[in-house]
Amino acid sequence: MSVLRKLFISVIGVALWLSTGVAKAEDVHSYARLNQVSTPHLELTLDIDFANRKLQGHATYILQRHDDSTQVYMDTSHLTIKRTELWVNEQWQPTKFTLGDVHPSLGSELIIDIGSVAKKVRVHYETVPSASGLQWLTPEQTAGKKHPFMFSQSQPIHARSWIPIQDTPALRLTYNATVTTPKGLLAVMSADNSLSDNRDGEYKFSMPQAIPPYLIAIAAGDLAIKSISENVAVFAEQYILDDAAWEFADTPRMIEVTEAMYGPYRWDRYDLLILPPSFPFGGMENPRLSFITPTVVSGDRSLINLIAHELAHSWSGNLVTNASWRDLWINEGFTSYVENRIMEALFGKERAQMEFALGYQDLLDNLERLEPKDTVLNIQLGTRHPDDVFSQVPYVKGQLFLAYLEDKFGRDVFDKFLRKYFDDFAFQSISTAQFKIYLQRELLAQKPNVVSMDKINEWLHEPGLPADAPKPTSDAFAKVEQQTQRWLKGAQLQTKQWTTHEWLHFINNLPLDISAENMARLDREFGLTEIQNSEIAHAWLKLSIVKKYEPARDRLRNYLLTIGRNKLVSPLYRELAKTADNLKWAREVYEQAKPGYHPLTQTVNEALLYPEH
Ligand code: BES
Ligand code: ZN
Repeated sequence: MSVLRKLFISVIGVALWLSTGVAKAEDVHSYARLNQVSTPHLELTLDIDFANRKLQGHATYILQRHDDSTQVYMDTSHLTIKRTELWVNEQWQPTKFTLGDVHPSLGSELIIDIGSVAKKVRVHYETVPSASGLQWLTPEQTAGKKHPFMFSQSQPIHARSWIPIQDTPALRLTYNATVTTPKGLLAVMSADNSLSDNRDGEYKFSMPQAIPPYLIAIAAGDLAIKSISENVAVFAEQYILDDAAWEFADTPRMIEVTEAMYGPYRWDRYDLLILPPSFPFGGMENPRLSFITPTVVSGDRSLINLIAHELAHSWSGNLVTNASWRDLWINEGFTSYVENRIMEALFGKERAQMEFALGYQDLLDNLERLEPKDTVLNIQLGTRHPDDVFSQVPYVKGQLFLAYLEDKFGRDVFDKFLRKYFDDFAFQSISTAQFKIYLQRELLAQKPNVVSMDKINEWLHEPGLPADAPKPTSDAFAKVEQQTQRWLKGAQLQTKQWTTHEWLHFINNLPLDISAENMARLDREFGLTEIQNSEIAHAWLKLSIVKKYEPARDRLRNYLLTIGRNKLVSPLYRELAKTADNLKWAREVYEQAKPGYHPLTQTVNEALLYPEH
C-alpha cells in the first residue's frame, strides 16, 4: 500500500474514532440520548411480589449532563410509572414525566424533566405480570414444588420491561440494589452475591464495574449453594445442586486457561445459577453469575462448552461490548471463537473440532432458511426486534471470520492481537466500524497483503459466506459417516467410543430416505427415544417428525411440555408446522405447554404455529 494511502486511512481512522465515541453511537433500538444526558449509576430498590407477579419499587440514577438539555430520555416497556422525582436542595421533589406511545418492538419512550441542576432522578414504578424480560413460576412449576421462582432475561432489549432505563449497550453503568422477597427465598443478581445461608428476605447487591444495561439480572427462588472452588459456586434448586457441581467441575480450569490466553478475569467471583428448564436460552453471561439451563446437566460433561461460552463472555461481550444490536457478532462471534479455544485447551483439538463442525452445520442450515440480508454480520435490523432475527449467523459466521484471520496471520500473531484488543477496549462498547479501524491498524497493517480490507468488508457486510471461508471438518465425524454407510447396508454400528458429538453428527446426517425399519432398528438398539441427553433427544425427535416415526410421539410431547429452552423447542415446532396434521397436534401440545413457557419462547413459537396472527 502506498504511504499516501496509509496516511489517508489513518486520518480517516482517527476522524471516525472521534466521531463514533461511545456517547454518540447510534442505537435505533433505544430512545436514550446519551450525548445529552446519560446515567452512569443506578440505585435500585425492588420488592419481588410473587402473589401479583410484579416487581415494584424505584430506580434512582445519577445524571451526567453532556449539554444543557433539561430532559432525560429513557426506555420502558409496559411499565407502570407512578411518579418521578428530582434530588434538588438535598431533598426529593416531584417532577413531570411523559410516556410515549407503545412501539411494538421498542416499547415507550419515557421523558423526564430534570431542570438544569439536579444531580439525581428517581422513578417510582411497577412491572406488569406479562413483562417480556421476566418469568414467574408457581411452586408447582418448580422441581421443589414448595416455593415460587422468578428470573430475568434482559438481553437484548428486555431490561426496559423491568427497569425504566437507557436501554442501549452503548451505555455502561454501575449499580447497587436492595431487593426484598418473601422469607425463605434467596434473591441473586449479576453482582456480588453472598454465599451465606441467610434467607431473611432482604438482600443487598453492588456491581462496581460499569456494565451495559442488558447485563443487569435478577432471580429469586428456593436456591441452595455449593462451592466448586474458592471463586466458583453453583446456585440451584436442591434437586440438581450436586449434579450441576459435578457437571461443571472444570469451570475453575476454564478460567485459568482463558486468563492465560486473554488476560485476567476482571469480575471477582464466577458463579453459575441453574434455572428451571423453562429458561429460554442455554446460558446467559450475566456478570459474576452466568444463568444456565438445566438441560446441559447431562451426567457426562458433554455439553459444558456452554459454560466455556458464557465464561468467555467475561472477555468478549461483558468487557468489550457490542455498541448496538447490529453489532451482536462482536459479542457472539468472538465468544464462540474463544469458547472453542477454551475447549481445545482443556480437552484437545479433536473435541473442539467436532464442536466447531457441529456449529458449522447448524449455520449452513440457517443460511438456507434465512433471507440473504439477515445473513450479514453487521446486520441491518431497522427497528425490527433483535429477537425476531436471532440466528447462528453472529455466532458461527463470526467465529469463522476470526478462525479465518487466525489462519491467515498465524495463531501467535492473532492471539497477541486478541489479548491487546481485550485490554484496549476493556469496559467499553464498540461498533463494527470501530472494530474495522482497530483491525486495520493492529492486525492487517502489521502484515501487509495478507488480508485486504475488501475481504474484511465481504465478511462483515455481505450475505452468506466468502468462497474462501474455513469449512470446519472433523476426522472423527468422517469415521462416523463411513460407519453410517456400512450400517445402511446391514452392518452393526460400533458406538462404544462415541461421544455426544458423534451421536449428534450421526443423527443429523442420516439420509432422509432412511426406512421406517432402520429407524426402529436404531431405537431398539440404542434407546434413542428415551435418551436423556437433551441435545441427542432433540436431534432424534426432529428426525422422528420428518420420518413420521410414531413411537417417538409421546416422548416428543413430554419433551415439549417440560423443556422451554427455545433452541431445543422451536426447531421441533418449525418441523411440525410443515404438515396440517402435525400442525394441529403441535398447537394442542403448545397450548398445554404455554403456561410454563417463558414470554420469549411463547412469542417465537406462536409466530411459527400461528403465522397468520
Ligand atoms: N448472550 C447469549 C444469549 C442471547 C444472545 C440472548 C442474544 C439474547 C440475545 C448467550 O451467551 C448465548 O449465546 N447462549 C447460547 C450458548 C451456546 C451458543 C453455547 C445459547 O443459549 O444457546
Ligand atoms: Zn453468547
